[in-house]
Amino acid sequence: MARIAVIPGDGIGVEVTHQAVKLLRLFSAEAQLPLELVEWDLGTERYLRTGSAITTEEMEDLRRNYDAIFLGALGDPRVPDNRHTRAILLGLRFHLDLYVNLRPVRLFDASLSPLRDVEPEDLDVVIVRENTEGVYAGMGGNFKRGTPDEVAIEEDINTRKGVERIVRAAFEHARANGRHKVTLADKANAMPHVGDLWRRVFAEVAAEYPDIEHHAMYIDALALDLVLHPARYDVIVTSNLFGDILSDLAAALAGGLGLAPSANVHPGRHAMFEPVHGSAPDIAGTGRANPLAAILTAAMMLDHLGYPREAARIDAVVRRAIAERRTTPDLGGSLTTDEVGDWICEAIRET
Ligand code: NAD
Ligand code: IPM
Ligand code: MN
Repeated sequence: MARIAVIPGDGIGVEVTHQAVKLLRLFSAEAQLPLELVEWDLGTERYLRTGSAITTEEMEDLRRNYDAIFLGALGDPRVPDNRHTRAILLGLRFHLDLYVNLRPVRLFDASLSPLRDVEPEDLDVVIVRENTEGVYAGMGGNFKRGTPDEVAIEEDINTRKGVERIVRAAFEHARANGRHKVTLADKANAMPHVGDLWRRVFAEVAAEYPDIEHHAMYIDALALDLVLHPARYDVIVTSNLFGDILSDLAAALAGGLGLAPSANVHPGRHAMFEPVHGSAPDIAGTGRANPLAAILTAAMMLDHLGYPREAARIDAVVRRAIAERRTTPDLGGSLTTDEVGDWICEAIRET
């Protein structure tokens, strides 16, 4: 039995998670997949009610007693500094040491891209984002806050171990998935200390994978070129912050955040799955949230749990939904979040 903790979270996180859960329950009822889904009440409501976002005991419970975590999204205007989001989302990434953030971006249909003359085969990249250090480490502080002399420091933490394991994960991912090229995105020209470490480690690890092409690029030039020539990119490995920014950019090229799934993993140990998007307070409660990113995230989770055939079935049905415009308005359709979720479940039942 695979035990899955479901954290719907806030805003559209709750709405899209509901659709993914409907689909997972369908698989467990009809295809007899042994999945146990346990819903966790973590998010703004609980934080405002109790003053605690998540406890160490809860994180330990999630670490010890679950095979996977499925998270919708966190973030609510009532918590303007996002402290509960950091406590829960970054807290789990760090506590479970989920150092690989895999963010695949595929163009399902040429009509979804804002780019001219781009075909699905031109845009198929995986961003391998470092997920446990960098400027996300929370090392820093404020000095003389609120005075004219105030100082704010956010340190960029890059360890030899952290850099080496993410670079290796990128090459391993390439090799395991028949991909041919790994591109490092950094800012070694302006940040020479960190850049030196990443570039040395990248060259060393790349030498162990002679079958895979490798290139190092500055992130600004890469962002430009990804828009102009997406076909040049295959696997992109980068730091926590650069990976965050690049994954929203790449998602935009393939139809937007409504289609972007992700997995946070410590290979062989723990995994947490979440759509790349946030809680989208601008559309929460309107029925306009696209649930396909969450549904594709559920497919990534099933694949991880050892059900690649079911994952492929979800993929095929999402492809059909897009082709037949059974989608929310962001993809040109006129269905609601719930209607898309129902259509996907019905299509799975028929396949
Ligand atoms: P966002 O990703 O929530 O939204 C960005 C834009 O994309 C918005 O216009 C939104 O309407 C649109 N969008 C996002 N997902 C969509 C979907 N499934 N269907 C249709 N449109 C969609 O980013 P934001 O507005 O910067 O952040 C809102 C809150 O979410 C913030 O509190 C932020 O910190 C948080 N956030 C959380 C996560 C997470 O929990 N994993 C990720 C990103 C942002
Ligand atoms: C993401 C989000 C988070 C991040 C925020 C909510 C802290 O943007 O998962 O991409 O920056 O990692
Ligand atoms: Mn992000």
